[in-house]
Amino acid sequence: MRTREHKKGSWRPKADTTIDVGVSGATGRRLFLALETSCDDTCAAVTDDARILSNVISSQASAHARYGGVVPEVASRHHLELVNPVVEAALAEAEIDLADVDALAVTTHPGLMGALLVGVATAKGLAAPLRKPLIGVDHLHGHVAANFLEPEPLEPPFLCLIASGGHTLLAGVRDHERYEILGRTVDDAAGEALDKGARLLGLGYPGGPAIERIAREGDPAAFEFPVAMTRDPGLDFSFSGLKTALLYTTRELDEAELDRRRADIAASYQAAVVGQLIAKLDRGLAAGNWRAVALGGGVAANSLLRERTAAVCEDRGLRLKLVPGELCTDNAAMIASAARFLEPARYPEYLDWTAAA
Ligand code: KG4
Ligand code: ZN
Repeated sequence: MRTREHKKGSWRPKADTTIDVGVSGATGRRLFLALETSCDDTCAAVTDDARILSNVISSQASAHARYGGVVPEVASRHHLELVNPVVEAALAEAEIDLADVDALAVTTHPGLMGALLVGVATAKGLAAPLRKPLIGVDHLHGHVAANFLEPEPLEPPFLCLIASGGHTLLAGVRDHERYEILGRTVDDAAGEALDKGARLLGLGYPGGPAIERIAREGDPAAFEFPVAMTRDPGLDFSFSGLKTALLYTTRELDEAELDRRRADIAASYQAAVVGQLIAKLDRGLAAGNWRAVALGGGVAANSLLRERTAAVCEDRGLRLKLVPGELCTDNAAMIASAARFLEPARYPEYLDWTAAA
């Protein structure tokens, strides 16, 4: 155990509760410990401003796989078991003592209520005894802020497509501390469409990577799926019709035929999901005066989406920022990254904080 408060007698709370998230001593560093538990990954990270010192992710995917999706109660229980070892691992890997951290950060919303509460309670429990400041972070702001991390941090303004298991949106990012929602899904999220599609195809959970894997052997033009909302003039997305079309397609095939065509169906379905994301991104770019584009959220790890986004940027002569896959899916480094630009709450202001689903 590396955290100082566990060494008996070595620590006393300071009477002074007005600690700033200023620059650490003579080193000029600002160290953050961030927690992220909004869905099914238990995550903790230590960052030194925009530099990641550790980014520990304990995925619960295998625990949820047999249910074909995230079960909220299972997620909360796993977070409870995993959060302390994950925090310890993040501090150990960064070779940082909890006492040396300048501020803590935690995802407070949106997500699964029970899952979020584990992170919020843990962060309060770590911050309060040491009178550390705490910063509450919006999970989606975290996905945007993954692009502010080293190496080659992206500076606003840029247009950011966020596509995850719970959200799909086009975010106009004009400064570090906020983003404007220009379009969002009116029903399912892109990742949710992939997860549900994978379940219909018997491909397991999480569905996005499973579909991506099998789609490599399939023909994306073999089946025609609707690329919805493309005739709608706005920037909103819709994926529920696509999911229904997939259901009908699978129903029309007998088991042997479904087995034979699974890769073609997966490739065509993935192409339709990505097609809609790209159509709206392109429309968003046409409507604004953006010079740079970024992706975020788990679906941003998808290679077809990355390739097609790169092609759009090349056509339009725009800079493209693509963070590595582990910074697209849920992680705590992105939460620390967003926290750098937000107002910290001082002890004891955050003691009554709760989460918001
Ligand atoms: O951002 P994230 O890790 O969690 C949420 O905030 O929801 O996103 C998870 C979603 C899941 O729906 C998963 O199937 C999808 O991201 N995903 C992918 C890929 N990796 C994860 N979708 C497509 N291709 C991938 N490589
Ligand atoms: Zn996410």
